[in-house]
Amino acid sequence: MFIGLDLGTSGLRALLVDAQGTAVASADAGYGVAHLHQGWSEQDPADWVHACQKVIATLVETHPKEMQNLAGIGLSGHMHGATLLDKTGAVLRPCILWNDTRSHVQAAELDSDPQFRALTGNIVFPGFTAPKLAWVAQHEPDVFAQVAKVLLPKDYMTFWLTGGFSGDMSDCAGTAWLDVGARDWSDDLLAATNLTRDHMPTLFEGSQVVGKIRPDLATALGLPTDVQIVAGGGDNAVAACGVGAMKEGDGFVSLGTSGVLLAARDGFAPMADSAVHTFCHAVPDKWYQMGVVLAATDSLNWLAGITGATPAELTAELGETLGPPTALRYYPYLSGERTPHNDSAVRGGFINIDIATTRADMTHAVMTGVSFALRDSLEALRKTGANLQSALAIGGGAASPLWVEMLATVLNLPLDLPEQGEFGAALGAARLAICGVTGQPVAQVMTKPKVSKTIHPRADLVAAYDASYARFAASFPTLKALQ
Ligand code: XUL
Repeated sequence: MFIGLDLGTSGLRALLVDAQGTAVASADAGYGVAHLHQGWSEQDPADWVHACQKVIATLVETHPKEMQNLAGIGLSGHMHGATLLDKTGAVLRPCILWNDTRSHVQAAELDSDPQFRALTGNIVFPGFTAPKLAWVAQHEPDVFAQVAKVLLPKDYMTFWLTGGFSGDMSDCAGTAWLDVGARDWSDDLLAATNLTRDHMPTLFEGSQVVGKIRPDLATALGLPTDVQIVAGGGDNAVAACGVGAMKEGDGFVSLGTSGVLLAARDGFAPMADSAVHTFCHAVPDKWYQMGVVLAATDSLNWLAGITGATPAELTAELGETLGPPTALRYYPYLSGERTPHNDSAVRGGFINIDIATTRADMTHAVMTGVSFALRDSLEALRKTGANLQSALAIGGGAASPLWVEMLATVLNLPLDLPEQGEFGAALGAARLAICGVTGQPVAQVMTKPKVSKTIHPRADLVAAYDASYARFAASFPTLKALQ
C-alpha cells in the first residue's frame, strides 16, 4: 500500500492506494492562511504537522490492515513557500506562501539581474522563494542571520517524516535558485541572495526514495518502521503525474480558483519573457510549462458573491447551448495576472455595459474573459514550441459543460473530461511513491484517466470567438493605461 500526501493551501489530503495505484481510502484535514497585512499570506508549519498526524490517525483507524502494509509515502505541496529553519531544525517564522506578494520590490530587483532568467528560465515572480529571502534579509535581519536551511512546504513535511533535508527538482525549480536546465542549484543565484548550497536541501528526482520514516515517529503514528518516503513534487507537476501528462503533446487545463494550462515537455525550452513558467517535471529528464491565470473560478465566485447567487445558479441561467461572444467584455485581473502580463498591479473590469445587460450576460462575459485569459496562455505556450493537440479539462469549473465547450471553442482544442474518480495531486504523489519504492517504470504507472466525454470546439463559433479574443488581447494596453 502507498500514500499520496497532498499539502494544499487550505488543507492536507492523504490518499491510500494499492500497488496498482487504485484508490482505497482518503482522509482530509484543513488549516487556515493568515493575512496579517495586505498582500501577506502565511502558514504555521506546525499546522501541517497536526493535519498530517490527523489524516494518518484516521487512516490507521479506518484501514488498520492496509496501513500495516504501508510501503511508501509520496508528497505533493503548494509551491514557492519559504520555510526557514535554524541550525537546530526549529522553524524561525511562519512560512511565507506562494500567493504572498510582499517581496515584489525584491523580485523586480533580482529579475533585473539577467543571470536569473538565463539560468532559471523564468521571470523572478514575487511569489517565488528567492525574493522572499531577500525581503527577510532586509526586513527581519535577525531572522535571516539564523537561517540554516530553506525548505519548501512539502520538504518541511519530509524533514518531519525522515529527519533529513531533501528537495525535488520540480518544486525547487520554483525557488529562482535552481539551474532548471541542468537540474542543479546555481551557486551564483544563491550568492545573489547571500545564501549558499549549504542552506538548501539535497536534490532528488520526484520519483526517488529520500529515506525511511523516523523509527520513533513510525511507532507514534502506528505505522511500520520500514515505510519509505519518496520525494514527490510541486503540486502542478504532481497533478500532471495524476493525469498521466508526462511527455510532449500531453497536457491539462485546470479551471480552479486559478486557471492553469500545462504542457509536458521532453526538453528544456524556456521563454521567460512570455511569463510562461518552465519547471522540471517530477520525473527524470522531463520538464513542463504552464501559463497561470490568477482568477479563474475565482472570477465567477466574485460575481456570485456580489450578485447573491451561487456559481451554479449563475451558470444555469445560461442554459445548455453555447451562444456567440457578446460585446460585453470582462477582464479577469481581480488579483493581477501572471501569464502573459506578469503584472501584480493590473485590475479587471467590464466594458460595453448596456442598459439591457443582464446578470446572465455578465456571467457569460466572465466565463468568456477567463477563457480568453487561458487562450493568452495557450498562445504563450505555443511560442515556446509546446504543441498541444488536446487537453484534459479538470478543476471545479469543468463541472459546467457550457464553460468547457466555450473554452474548447476559444482554444480551438478538443477537451477531454475524465471519468469521475481520483486524478489530482494526491494520486500523483501516491504514483511517485509506487515508482520510487517498486522501481516500476514511470510510463507504466502514470497512466491517463478514462475519458468520459470529449468536448469539441463549436466549429460554427470558432471564428467569432477568435475575432473577439483578438479584440480582448489588443485592448490590454488600453485597460492598463486607464488605471
Ligand atoms: C504555481 C503556483 C501554485 C501553487 C499553489 O506556480 O504558484 O500553483 O503551487 O497551488
